[in-house]
Amino acid sequence: MAEPHKPEIRGTIIHGSESTCSIDVPAPCGLIIFGASGDLTHRKIAPALYRLRKNRLLPESFFMLGTARTAMSNAAFRETLRAAVQESLPDEFRNEIWDSLADSFFYHSIAYDDAAGYQHLQKRALELTHRFGTGGNLIFYLAVPPAVFTDVVTHIGQVNFSDGVREGFRHIVIEKPIGHDIDSALAINKTLRAVFQEHQIYRMDHYLAKENVQNILMFRFANAIFEPLWNRNFIDHVQITASEKLGVEHRAGYYERAGILRDMFQNHLFQLLALTAMEPPAEFVAGRVHDERMKVFQSVRPFQLDRLLEHIVLGQYGRGSMNGVDMPAYREEHGVARDSMTPTYAALRVMIDNWRWKGVPFYLRSGKRLAQRCAEIAIFFKPVPHLMFSRLMHDQIEPNTLILRVQPNEGMSMSIQVKNPGSRLCLNTVLMDFTYPRSVVLSEYERVLLDCMQGDQLLFVRADAVTLSWELLTPLIRATESDAYPKYFPNYAAGSSGPVEADALLSLDGRSWRPL
Ligand code: BG6
Repeated sequence: MAEPHKPEIRGTIIHGSESTCSIDVPAPCGLIIFGASGDLTHRKIAPALYRLRKNRLLPESFFMLGTARTAMSNAAFRETLRAAVQESLPDEFRNEIWDSLADSFFYHSIAYDDAAGYQHLQKRALELTHRFGTGGNLIFYLAVPPAVFTDVVTHIGQVNFSDGVREGFRHIVIEKPIGHDIDSALAINKTLRAVFQEHQIYRMDHYLAKENVQNILMFRFANAIFEPLWNRNFIDHVQITASEKLGVEHRAGYYERAGILRDMFQNHLFQLLALTAMEPPAEFVAGRVHDERMKVFQSVRPFQLDRLLEHIVLGQYGRGSMNGVDMPAYREEHGVARDSMTPTYAALRVMIDNWRWKGVPFYLRSGKRLAQRCAEIAIFFKPVPHLMFSRLMHDQIEPNTLILRVQPNEGMSMSIQVKNPGSRLCLNTVLMDFTYPRSVVLSEYERVLLDCMQGDQLLFVRADAVTLSWELLTPLIRATESDAYPKYFPNYAAGSSGPVEADALLSLDGRSWRPL
């Protein structure tokens, strides 16, 4: 039988008044990027700076001082960044905007373990501070591999970057991975805290800066109609997905040691979990929001290591085909061991033992080389309590679902039941759908840079959350890396929806995944 037609109700964005939607331009500042010759600076940071300038969100008084080991002139540095930005933003790139921005870009090569190099760097930064009138405000951005975090942070601490300037803030941005397990995470946080205070440290999780992730709290707490339903009385279960079509790309060196649980769960998926499950903070300010996110981690039921297979399914992609193109297996990717046991997929059942969520499973899944690129939070409501239509209808009534789409097509949709026009009694599931227009979405890196310039830590991760998420996951990861967890890899084909065992994880509970 043909699928019944499902009408779609499309939403439109209603722009609010200036006061609710405007973004303040931050105060003047300088940005020192460690690792400026690398991929992150080229693919993410430079395009974000370009878009901020284009949208007049970057302070007029601004400079960026790039540092890395490679020797390079200012001109060569600017040229490589120009090419990178042009490639990232082909439709938006304008020479005049680029030229005005590139005039404030400088390069200074440094050996990360050479103390004298940091003295020179400080002098250079001071000279630029005066020349651009940035008032001493300075951001250190660590776009370097974790192996040199400690060197860089310790040396920054040994040089007086306040020398010659009376005022100004010092902020440091640090990207994941923050540690490999609980011990290394504690060590990194200790190094950071030896030099900076917590209010100066911006631990970045780029998922928190995604437009629709920020929207989760607005959606939950700025609409009176959802919060009364947001609990175990009305919600059957929650599915949080971050699936990728990409494979390991050129990052085997890092990924082979990390695997999916460290790469995606300890940070991104756990943060989505916290935002979905947290209590309303009294105020929408960083400290209060961080406190509530922390309480979710404190309520997560520790994973039962003697019953691993009931809570977690791991996978690794084998050969497959995507859009008619043959894809190699993970073990055939460049830099990956031929007998690698690194998981590229995981599905995990998480229980939150608190008043609101007792008994409601949160199913988290993430994987590489899956059928679709999709990040979403799907709230499955309970079925209606009594089927008054049951004598006339054969089927069950589909329970309502609410999907918060993180990407692509940032937005949300809600499935509801309506009567089909015409026929006497026939229900149909329709979607109320809202999609953000692309033009209003700030990229994650634009958001992160802006917030760090403005001193707003709301979208960053506090030290205690890093510690607690590692405390929860480290025993689980160690157990899955031991023989206690039998692995028959590869166990899913590139381009598929993941291992069949992941379906079993839900079917044991009488549920099924939303199709990818
Ligand atoms: C990164 C992971 O943090 O997030 C990558 O290290 C992953 O492995 C990426 O591909 C996914 O981010 P996004 O924004 O593309 O969903």
